[in-house]
Amino acid sequence: MVSYKDLGLVNTREMFKKAIEGGYAIPAFNFNNMEQMQAIISACVECSSPVILQVSSGARKYANQTLLRYMAQGAVEYAKELGKNIPIVLHLDHGNSFELCKNCIDMGFSSVMIDGSHLPYDENVALTKVVDYAHQFDVTVEGELGVLAGVEDEVSSEVAHYTRPEEVVDFVTKTGVDSLAISIGTSHGANKFKPEQCTRNEEGILLPPPLRFDILAEIEKQLPGFPIVLHGSSSVPQEYVKIINTHGGALKDAVGIPEEQLRQAAKSAVCKINIDSDGRLAMTAMVRKVFVDNPAEFDPRKYLGPARDELKKLYKHKCENVLGSAGRVE
Ligand code: G3H
Ligand code: 13P
Ligand code: ZN
Repeated sequence: MVSYKDLGLVNTREMFKKAIEGGYAIPAFNFNNMEQMQAIISACVECSSPVILQVSSGARKYANQTLLRYMAQGAVEYAKELGKNIPIVLHLDHGNSFELCKNCIDMGFSSVMIDGSHLPYDENVALTKVVDYAHQFDVTVEGELGVLAGVEDEVSSEVAHYTRPEEVVDFVTKTGVDSLAISIGTSHGANKFKPEQCTRNEEGILLPPPLRFDILAEIEKQLPGFPIVLHGSSSVPQEYVKIINTHGGALKDAVGIPEEQLRQAAKSAVCKINIDSDGRLAMTAMVRKVFVDNPAEFDPRKYLGPARDELKKLYKHKCENVLGSAGRVE
């Protein structure tokens, strides 16, 4: 049993309290490899933002769970070396069983998500009781009510079911979760909406249906000051889609959540915003560009390096201009 506290990590409690009071959201960026971790930490150090490092079960399978955990421990030291001891949470993204959450807690995670959102309500409540185990070690827990459309790690749904505000008080009371992920129109991946759900602007770019701020407001009324989480919050920057498609890629009808809407959400009780796909697009765009521009290149540092630089730029932009988390660490 390793305590996250001995690794220099923190849980989400204090972070979320400050974020709600300050009208901003903490970035939750997924990582699977060294370049992503470096980009996240160097961006957040440079703009003085707290950060949540997210690991999905797919990431654990891809990179090896032990290596990822040591990388997170390394991230704490890396931040200090770069000159700022920013608060860093190591969070399990979309945990789907008690055993997985327990395993992460026992190996030094400071926060876990238990995602029973696809289950019938009572089963979701029962599964989310992982809280009883987590709280013994002061590990914070995120639950989810409502279903996002799109692919979540090994779970996918064709249709979204918005969170029902009338359920949130009962769910939070029965489970004791520290934060609640909700469904108000965000969605996982780079194709968040079908073209028929969108309108098009004069350049033919798809404009998605707006987030359901009315549902968010009702949830906030039911749970004043309670930390709310938004998954599926990539904005799918069209400049990356364009670079990918003009350098041999084939992304069709890629569309995300407009950044102004995320900025608006961050000012409310939404205090954690999950972004993964935008980082994937940034990296892929740069790697494709290097391959097309320099076909003789075969040193991985020559394509992963530019990908990492672009990723860092993207994350700084998110903290500074979208989530409002920049400048929040003394
Ligand atoms: O919500 C899902 C995250 O983007 C993680 O994706 O399961 O492919 O690692 P992944
Ligand atoms: P995106 O696919 O919109 O980046 O969402 C990521 C996410 O919610 C991770 O849990
Ligand atoms: Zn998610």
